[in-house]
Amino acid sequence: MLTSKKSNSSATIVRISIFRNFLKPLFVLIFSNYYFDLGKKITFVKILTFDFLRSIVKYKSKFAPFMHTEEVFILAIESSCDDTAAAVLKDNIVLSNVVARQSIHEQYGGVVPELASRAHQQNIVPVVEVALKKATISKNQLSAIAFTQGPGLMGSLLVGSSFAKSLAMALEIPLIAVNHMHAHILAHFIDEEGFDKPTFPFLALTISGGHTQIVKVNSYFDMEIIGETTDDAVGEAFDKTAKILGFPYPGGPLIDQYAKEGNSKKYPFTKPKVPGLNFSFSGLKTQILYFVQKNVSENPNFVEENKADICASVQHTIIEILMDKLKMAVAETGINQIAIGGGVSANSGIRQTLKDAQTKYGWKTFVPKFEYTTDNAAMIGIVGYQKYLHEKFADANVVSKARIEF
Ligand code: KG4
Ligand code: ZN
Repeated sequence: MLTSKKSNSSATIVRISIFRNFLKPLFVLIFSNYYFDLGKKITFVKILTFDFLRSIVKYKSKFAPFMHTEEVFILAIESSCDDTAAAVLKDNIVLSNVVARQSIHEQYGGVVPELASRAHQQNIVPVVEVALKKATISKNQLSAIAFTQGPGLMGSLLVGSSFAKSLAMALEIPLIAVNHMHAHILAHFIDEEGFDKPTFPFLALTISGGHTQIVKVNSYFDMEIIGETTDDAVGEAFDKTAKILGFPYPGGPLIDQYAKEGNSKKYPFTKPKVPGLNFSFSGLKTQILYFVQKNVSENPNFVEENKADICASVQHTIIEILMDKLKMAVAETGINQIAIGGGVSANSGIRQTLKDAQTKYGWKTFVPKFEYTTDNAAMIGIVGYQKYLHEKFADANVVSKARIEF
């Protein structure tokens, strides 16, 4: 009796297991988009072939996140300008974030596109290898590869996109194209201890070497530019001022450093009058140029003797310009959650001013972790993760774009 009971129960287990192994894939097949796409082409016999079902399940588990109950591993690549960067994310957690900065441009006072592209070609393989190694992840564990599609320097973008496409194809995993400016904003959704995430809708001030924008962020994929620069970006204002003062490229961090020691009220510069939420920084640059030329003609050591006060005054003016527009944007939209992003959000004066605005104006402000301010691949990875969850994949024909629609 006992034996027969035992054999009965093992038979039941076998039956359940057959049921699971067979019906689950069939269920998946019937209720997946894949079935509807290919439904007409596949025959009934094929549907019932277990191997075929298994291959579909395997395919779906890679390409359909709604069925993907396991962790998502994204390899992200950023190569839009002069930094070659790779990161690995497990869901919204950064496992590794590697950046190879290209020092070659310093001697030229700015980024030389051809040299940047060549340096990316040299750096990309080792940078990706280090990122995978640091994350202790093998290529075969990756769920998808995300890369910067634009905006940026064409030659630089092409190195990242070609690499990402080839690797995604070789590993048979999805490819995800990411807008670099979206990434600067969505970097706030990386899971980091001590850093809150904004809730939608919020305003983002993106300040980088090529962009200055106020963006109304309605969701991960619905963003609207409500103000932007009509000429130079704020990063250019920093870098060009630095050049006038004789500092090496990129000068933004140096201005920040000297400003800490200086008197920000010593040299008052006039702020541009630009209507609405738009910005202009080219007039400020010219003003600084004439101011320095005039003073140097009277005292050749003027810059050296006053660099801290000059830097503090310039930085103070730039912060005031940004804050005036943010106050206007809050008044116009009624949204008082403000997130900053982009290379210039590394500036200590801007970071402190935004933090102070919480008590001063009652805003809720979000200042990114320092390593996610200047160009990095972790921010590309977090967009990749969201796009993966929403099945926003690119095909192999996706093209890099120096300018890209927002
Ligand atoms: O986002 P990013 O790394 O590259 C672009 O997408 O453009 O931004 C680079 C810009 C440069 O103009 C650099 O001078 C500026 O960010 N930057 C800073 C600071 N760190 C980087 N500007 C002011 N203060 C800083 N601490
Ligand atoms: Zn950037």
